[in-house]
Amino acid sequence: MQTLSTVEAVRERVQQWRAAGLRIAFVPTMGNLHAGHMSLLAAARYRGDRVVASIFVNPLQFGPSEDYGAYPRTLDEDQQLLAEAHCDLLFAPSVADMYPNGGDQRTLIVVRGLSDILDGRFRPGHFDGVATVVAKLFGIVAPDVAVFGEKDYQQLLVVRHMTLDLALPVEIAGAPTVRAPDGLALSSRNRYLNVEERVRAAAIHHALSQAVSAIYGGERDLAALERDGAALLGHAGMSVEYFVIRNAADLSEPNAASSDLVVLTAVRLGRARLIDNLRAHRP
Ligand code: PAJ
Repeated sequence: MQTLSTVEAVRERVQQWRAAGLRIAFVPTMGNLHAGHMSLLAAARYRGDRVVASIFVNPLQFGPSEDYGAYPRTLDEDQQLLAEAHCDLLFAPSVADMYPNGGDQRTLIVVRGLSDILDGRFRPGHFDGVATVVAKLFGIVAPDVAVFGEKDYQQLLVVRHMTLDLALPVEIAGAPTVRAPDGLALSSRNRYLNVEERVRAAAIHHALSQAVSAIYGGERDLAALERDGAALLGHAGMSVEYFVIRNAADLSEPNAASSDLVVLTAVRLGRARLIDNLRAHRP
């Protein structure tokens, strides 16, 4: 596996592959890779002839009081994992490579509406930072297909809408959430949990599963399910930012006819902010 850090070098490499008629699959990440990321790599391997990954902790998507400085950076281990997963090319730029004008990135991509709700409400500007860096990475790597995790469900929708609205020639593929044996979704931020918090964190998947089972069981009172889910997480010692049931297509509020739903939650537990979701189809 080759590691490149400049925009020009990546463009040149990918252009050669493209000229040879090869299909390029791309997995953008912020590094500190775990089995969740590796499943995206496997999906990319399946969908393309060449696999490109990126590792870039994007300052633009972190709020001023968030964990940009503390975010785990483990490039050596990550490179090892990517090589073992038969990744062909790693793009690992510096902040200066990605934002040559310094912190002053004048062009922002804003996916209106979708970026202001749920996570966007608790992390103002976050999805503008995500949409902007993903568009920029697409411009550099020029992939045929890019793979994103359903774990970050709202992010996946923001990227889908951005790609559609800007007519970017990139297919967006979603990949299922990889979980620990107790159900906790794998996340780089799980390492902020101490041993006791890590045990309690299993309540997140438990609360989501309980709501999904009730929906499959025919429960129509979604507001009651939202209250029950939030209460369960509260009892497990978490501070709940939201526990909601929404339309899976666009995260709008469901009505009586809605059938394709998603249950989403964000909580704070100790030093960590954790998000997770599960899909549910109403009978
Ligand atoms: P990061 O948090 O590193 O995640 C990179 C990709 O891995 C995302 O598509 C995310 O949804 C996926 N992922 C994370 N945990 C997962 C799990 N347990 N199962 C399956 N997939 C999982 O998301 C970002 O980075 C950034 O916002 C990025 C898109 C790279 C833009 O900076």
